[in-house]
Amino acid sequence: MDTRAHRRRHAVLVPCPFQGHISPMLQLGTILQSKGFSIIVVHTKFNSPNSSDHPEFVFQSIPDGLSSQEIVSGNLLEIILALNQNCKIPFQECLPRIMARKDSDGEINCIIYDELMYFSEAVANQLKVPSIVLRTISAAACTARVAILQLKAKGSIPFPDSVSKELVPELDPLRFKDLPISRSGVPDNFLHLVACAYNIKTSSAVIWNTMDCLEESLLLKQRQKQLPVPIFAIGPMHKFAPVCSSSLLKEDTSYIPWLNKQKPKSVLYISLGSLASIDETELAEMVWGLTNSKQRFLWVIRPGSISGSEWIGLLPEGFVESVGERGFIVKWTLQREVLAHPAIGGFWSHCGWNSALESISEGIPMICRPCFGDQMVTARYVSHVWRTGLILENKLERKEIESAVRRLMIDKEGEEMRQRAADLKEKVEVCFKKGGSSYNFLDRLVEFMSHL
Ligand code: UDX
Repeated sequence: MDTRAHRRRHAVLVPCPFQGHISPMLQLGTILQSKGFSIIVVHTKFNSPNSSDHPEFVFQSIPDGLSSQEIVSGNLLEIILALNQNCKIPFQECLPRIMARKDSDGEINCIIYDELMYFSEAVANQLKVPSIVLRTISAAACTARVAILQLKAKGSIPFPDSVSKELVPELDPLRFKDLPISRSGVPDNFLHLVACAYNIKTSSAVIWNTMDCLEESLLLKQRQKQLPVPIFAIGPMHKFAPVCSSSLLKEDTSYIPWLNKQKPKSVLYISLGSLASIDETELAEMVWGLTNSKQRFLWVIRPGSISGSEWIGLLPEGFVESVGERGFIVKWTLQREVLAHPAIGGFWSHCGWNSALESISEGIPMICRPCFGDQMVTARYVSHVWRTGLILENKLERKEIESAVRRLMIDKEGEEMRQRAADLKEKVEVCFKKGGSSYNFLDRLVEFMSHL
């Protein structure tokens, strides 16, 4: 008799503590749990996930050693590097404790870690537990991050302004300005992070929150050139785990009655995700651009996302009154539900990978306003490969905003993008339904994990 089939299989998940990373990891946990795995989430104290949203998982917190200065600084790169330094030993010490629990039969089947929490790979290897990497950004963005190491070695970056619009050799359609690096250059610690996160040493496989209908050729290249292990492209994961909740912020539902009253495809949804922020000048340009476009909008202004103000204190006087019924401002929504609402006709997004996947899955065309990192890559793919959106890439100015909003929401050009977005939505559905590429990859992943 195969005792393996009768043993409970445990997967330990190690999310990176930011919203855009916690969500896909918890979605993966929900998916694996439905396939018979029990899920243990090992998380940092900083930005710890809300365990009450997932009573079916075991949550185990480890000390992260972050100082309040580090947290307040908002320096993502420094925080991630510090976590990799600080969490290795606590993680190593907590695993035997987890397995000593009464409800466990003592065996961890595998550790699945966010690519940025690469300390987990070393711990897994030391404890002789198989490990798998979860990539939470696009294949295009990963390819670009890895290419940065070579471009830097060749002296091609930092690049002068004169080449910023030139295509990067072998990364077409990306231009130098789309590379996921900051304008001020490429710090050594960024190169270190990329080298650590994308150099798999002992992990057995890669799970990717993307799918063939979006990135088949890039995934193929990864298989052929870069990755010595199997890849399972099982995106969009939120479609396999539709009820999985993972918000760090509390949803404000006050917008729902307003949204329910709006005409089909008449509302522009605006959200810059969980990290990006704008300054007072950009805010004023957005306000006037939106007002002059005369289009309806639902605008998420996350507390703290306007520099220098706690929430909407810096909105120009009279704006809220002048908008009246035409717009609604909210602190945080249940975005996936908003994007699936018939009243939504467009999405102004910073192009975080989760937001892009959620938009694509619902057939919503986009105004892309990337702020940093992989968002620039995704914006370029939305506008130039999938052609389901346009980019706002210059300094934010009210005239340009007004024109972009009208192009997307009411012009023929927007109608064509909406049609392409609807076609892409159908392709995505084929991917995650029975027999589709993501569906099949998921079956293969479960099989693979069962034999680790
Ligand atoms: C970060 C990086 O910024 C992003 O570039 C990277 O691809 C992932 O990690 P973030 O900026 O938060 O993520 O963006 P995104 O990936 O879009 O994730 C935001 C998540 O928050 C989405 O799943 C979205 O549905 C959710 N959200 C956002 C809400 O649920 N409500 C809101 O009001 C706004």
